[in-house]
Amino acid sequence: MTVGTPEVIGFIKSYAATIREHRTELIRLDAAIGDADHGENLDRGFRAAVERLPDPQESTPTDVLKAVAMALISKVGGAAGPLYGTAFLRASAALDGQAELDAGAVVQALDAALQGLKARGKADLGDKTMIDAWAPAVDAAREALEAGQGLPGVLAAATAAAEKGMKDTTPLVARKGRASYLGERSAGHQDPGATSTYLLFATLSCADP
Ligand SMILES: Nc1ncnc2c1ncn2[C@@H]1O[C@H](COP(=O)(O)OP(=O)(O)OP(=O)(O)O)[C@@H](O)[C@H]1O
Ligand SMILES: [Mg+2]
Repeated sequence: MTVGTPEVIGFIKSYAATIREHRTELIRLDAAIGDADHGENLDRGFRAAVERLPDPQESTPTDVLKAVAMALISKVGGAAGPLYGTAFLRASAALDGQAELDAGAVVQALDAALQGLKARGKADLGDKTMIDAWAPAVDAAREALEAGQGLPGVLAAATAAAEKGMKDTTPLVARKGRASYLGERSAGHQDPGATSTYLLFATLSCADP
C-alpha cells in the first residue's frame, strides 16, 4: 500500500478538523500549565494551512508538507507554530519529491520530523513536551516496519505509542517551554503539545481520537 498527494492533502484537512474539534480541550490543558493558547494556535495554523494547500494535480507530498510548514511558521506565534512548522518542513525535505509513499518513506518522514523538533526545541524524552509523544511513536513505527508491517500496521503502532506517551506526560515535571516556569506544580497535568501530537498520529492512522 502506498499513499500519494491526495491522501496527504486529505490528512491535512482531517487534522485541521480534528484540531477544531479538540480546540477547547487543548486550550483547557494549556490553561493548566501554560497560557491557554495551544488550541487557538493550532486551529489558526491549520486553517491557514488548509487555505494554502496546492493543487493535487500539480504537486507532490513534498510540496503539500512544505506549504503546511510555511503556513504554520508564518501564522502561529509561540512555541508550537515553529515546532510543528519545523517538523513538517523536515518531513517535506525527507520525501524529496517522491510521488508515492510506502511505509518506509512515511517512517523516514516521521523520523525526520522528530529530529527537526528535537533540534528546534532542544528538548528530549522526559522533558514533558510533544517529544514525549513523538519519540515513542516514531520508535514504534520503525519497529513495526522492521517487523514487516505495511502502512496501516505501522501507523496503528505509532498511534498506540503516541497515546501512551501522551498519558505518561501527566506525572512529569516540565523542563522546557512555558510549563517549566511552574516547576513541580507542572506535575499532575497532561502536556498539551503531546496531546496534539497524539491527535496527529490518530488522524494519520484514521483512528477516531
Ligand atoms: N522546547 C520545546 N521543545 C518541544 N516542545 C515544546 C518546547 N516548548 C514547548 N513545547 C511544546 O509546546 C506546547 C505549547 O504550545 P503553545 O502553542 O501553547 O505555545 P506556547 O508555549 O504558549 O508559546 P509561548 O510560550 O511562546 O506563548 C507544550 O505543551 C509543549 O508540548
Ligand atoms: Mg501556550
